[in-house]
Amino acid sequence: NTTPVTVAVTGAAGQIGYSLLFRIAHGDLLGPERPVRLRLLEIPQALPALEGTVMELQDCAFPLLADVEIDSDARTVFDGAQLALLVGARPRAKGMERSDLLEANGAIFTEQGRALNDVAHDDVRVVVTGNPANTNALIAQRNAPDIPESRFSALTRLDHNRAAAMLAAETKTSVAKVKNLSVWGNHSATQYPDLDHAMVAGRPALDLVSRKWVTDTFIPTVSQRGAAVLQARGASSAASAASATLDHARDLMLGNRHGDWTSMAVVSDGSYGVPAGLVSSFPVTTSGGDWSVVQGLEISEFSRSRIDASVAELESERDAVQQLGLI
Ligand code: NAI
Repeated sequence: NTTPVTVAVTGAAGQIGYSLLFRIAHGDLLGPERPVRLRLLEIPQALPALEGTVMELQDCAFPLLADVEIDSDARTVFDGAQLALLVGARPRAKGMERSDLLEANGAIFTEQGRALNDVAHDDVRVVVTGNPANTNALIAQRNAPDIPESRFSALTRLDHNRAAAMLAAETKTSVAKVKNLSVWGNHSATQYPDLDHAMVAGRPALDLVSRKWVTDTFIPTVSQRGAAVLQARGASSAASAASATLDHARDLMLGNRHGDWTSMAVVSDGSYGVPAGLVSSFPVTTSGGDWSVVQGLEISEFSRSRIDASVAELESERDAVQQLGLI
């Protein structure tokens, strides 16, 4: 199939956008045969900078890039979108309370949810990277009543990839040999990267690393990795976040690695005791734009308490946006 796919990206002039757009246009999202049409959304003040990025996209002479359009109106940008990557969000400014952040992002994601509902392609898939990603996805989904809820997902793939890389380094193997990792809950410090079912080169990970390493080193390092990158770089993770966004969207559209699963925040159907309707991360398999939660995993008492803690945080975010009238 060589019909171009319409991909909308929001926050396109931001740090993640600067890495993401070039890789999409290069074919890293839908493979080396499938042309893409890029539709880029930015706030009006950022459109001049985005024009510069568009010039650079043209100068790369990517054979798969069918065309690029930019606008500050969500309804124009999302018109006919088959895949919408919602990257743009309001960052937390100094002195901003958590409720201020939820409110500022709520305004963005209610508007974008409504616009997607009205003008996106019937078959649209929506992936939210902009933070707080799970709750932003919940807001967009609830404001798009005509789009099936399973079409919305939020990014925890960066956490999943960080966990895979760290486990591979600890066991002195390659990430290609690491399988069946799970990230549960919120994309936040409460996330739970779970090694209980993980395999390394065909052996259970927990035969190769100690429980103490998992609780004292692995879990805190994975969940604090964003802060460590920010500290070192003086800017938050961008190329790795773009790469994870591509991994997430590519697996969703084309299917995850055979014999493995991945992690994605999706609208819960009540699996594993996560209240239905919350956008929470689960181990999932994917194919053809659809996902399903991996069923039947045994959940230890330790895992249960970690999942419950992260889900409690998601519930409090949901209650806050409900009180603000955003959902
Ligand atoms: P950035 O601040 O460099 O770029 C964000 C862009 O979004 C800016 O250009 C801004 O003008 C734009 N924007 C703001 N409101 C908009 C709106 N209503 N419509 C369209 N565009 C809008 O931020 P960066 O580094 O690119 O990160 C983007 C988001 O991704 C942040 O919320 C960040 O916290 C989040 N993130 C999520 C990760 C994850 O694993 N889920 C990992 C890393 C970052």
